[in-house]
Amino acid sequence: MKVLMINGSRRDNGCTYTALSEIAKELTAGGVEWEIMNVGSRVNKGEVNDVVNEAVEALKTTDAIIVGSPVYYASPSGEILMFLDRLFGKAEAELRFMPAATIASARRGGTTATLDVLNKYFMYNQMPLVASRYWNMVHGSAPEQVLQDEEGLQIMHTLGRNMVWILKSIEAGKKAGVAQPEAETKVFTNFIR
Ligand SMILES: Cc1cc2nc3c(=O)[nH]c(=O)nc-3n(C[C@H](O)[C@H](O)[C@H](O)COP(=O)(O)O)c2cc1C
Repeated sequence: MKVLMINGSRRDNGCTYTALSEIAKELTAGGVEWEIMNVGSRVNKGEVNDVVNEAVEALKTTDAIIVGSPVYYASPSGEILMFLDRLFGKAEAELRFMPAATIASARRGGTTATLDVLNKYFMYNQMPLVASRYWNMVHGSAPEQVLQDEEGLQIMHTLGRNMVWILKSIEAGKKAGVAQPEAETKVFTNFIR
């Protein structure tokens, strides 16, 4: 079992990366593999096509996805939004039913608005959202500050353990013959007719 973690920050080793690394500790403890893909810096350099293609490739061996973003102007980073718009355009079917979680890192404010925007990509695509014991956020301007945010760290650790539990539950369900729900033909209306 493997979790693909996406860092939507322009800073490869900043606060968002630090928070994802805390989740990773619990995944490892639960016997789940993981990878952190630094997406924000690549999109910022104009490499959006490449990094989306790499993520689509990585999804072939992925059982769950966690997306992390810094808060920029009380919203997710522009880089992660561009990435997710493209990723969902290309790999909606591969992502469907995959457990997912989002986390946000901020100096001070805008985290819940950020999580709201990110969670909607998953909700649109029938992906079970994995939660923690509070909203999934850490606070800090630098990694050292995130490491002082005791509550934020606990939220990340709880999220990691909950993700392990969900993944193992899904695996046990598959072994017991629980099938994914069947899809109906999509009804797609607009406001004109
Ligand atoms: C362009 C920009 C906009 C930001 N806007 C906010 C904001 O609205 N609210 C906030 O609390 N922090 C804001 N910050 C601070 C970052 O969200 C915060 O330092 C975050 O933890 C950085 O994560 P990173 O190191 O992974 O990039 C902003 C930072 C940048 C670069």
